[in-house]
Amino acid sequence: MDAVSAVCRRGAWETQVDLGLVDPKAGGEAVVMTDSNSDVTGFHDRVVLITGGTSGMGLATARLLLEAGSDIVITGRDDARLDRAAEQLDKVSDQGARLFTVRADSASLTDLERLAALIRERHGRLDGVFANAGVGVFQRSGEVTEQDFDLSVDVNFKGVFFTVQKVLPLLDAAGGGSIVINASWTLHRGLAVAPVYAATKAAVHNLARTLGSDLAGRGIRVNSISPGYIVTEMFDAANPDPASHDAIRSQVPLRRLGQAQDIAETVAFLLSPQSSYITAQDIAVDGGLVTAIPAP
Ligand SMILES: NC(=O)c1ccc[n+]([C@@H]2O[C@H](COP(=O)([O-])OP(=O)(O)OC[C@H]3O[C@@H](n4cnc5c(N)ncnc54)[C@H](OP(=O)(O)O)[C@@H]3O)[C@@H](O)[C@H]2O)c1
Repeated sequence: MDAVSAVCRRGAWETQVDLGLVDPKAGGEAVVMTDSNSDVTGFHDRVVLITGGTSGMGLATARLLLEAGSDIVITGRDDARLDRAAEQLDKVSDQGARLFTVRADSASLTDLERLAALIRERHGRLDGVFANAGVGVFQRSGEVTEQDFDLSVDVNFKGVFFTVQKVLPLLDAAGGGSIVINASWTLHRGLAVAPVYAATKAAVHNLARTLGSDLAGRGIRVNSISPGYIVTEMFDAANPDPASHDAIRSQVPLRRLGQAQDIAETVAFLLSPQSSYITAQDIAVDGGLVTAIPAP
């Protein structure tokens, strides 16, 4: 821990070290390029929807934006997991007053229509959307079943498209806003163990570019992010053997695995007025991973 602390300066990353989120046995010195801080601004009285907010990046983003004063709507497929997330966010959500949990399967248009109607009833508008819900079906091309294919496409692509479509009138009601779509580094390089997953992420990145241009006249910005290897439930499920983590880490120029907080900070920036001149872009949040992997 000392070696890592020695290269840290003040800011959110240092907090991650203090919290034990960064593994000092990272196979090389972790590198911090710039200071960062969690002074997220511009969210007071804002309403933000986060799909897939029960764990990982969605939950971390919900926490950060609640801390910044936002009202947050989170979704997930399971009431017990939504309740658990609400408990974890209780303190930062003013005992739940600024948090609205809605069970909604992103693959179901009926659920998405109901979600939009519930947000309209409660808030009347939306200022931001993090279309984050996703599933990681990791199968090589020969093993992908029709069921795997349909699930990946239904949640990761169709779900993102119709989430945006159904909530657009709520962004219009706010006079505009910002949408961030969670893609993946795999859209830039492909991934042999996840050809369909990578293709769904390429699809939603393309969606961000097209919608970013299409919706600009309505004051709505649309961007995607491409996380690298981020330690979440999905990462743990795909990489259950901790021994494999060193090999993964060694591919990353910054020599550490990403944390959900790294993504939350970037999403907050893209949802905030500080990024008001950025639209139709993809931002890689991957410790330099994509630049270190040869293009296919
Ligand atoms: N971890 C990584 O290394 C990595 C890298 C690149 C991109 N990503 C992307 O990051 C996003 C978030 O994943 P994560 O890594 O934070 O994993 P995670 O902790 O497993 O979170 C996934 C979230 O998506 C929700 N979800 C899954 N299917 C859903 C559906 N049909 N309807 C509504 N919600 C659904 C889950 O909620 P319930 O299970 O409670 O329903 C959960 O809240 C995903 O889009 C993923 O593809 C992850």
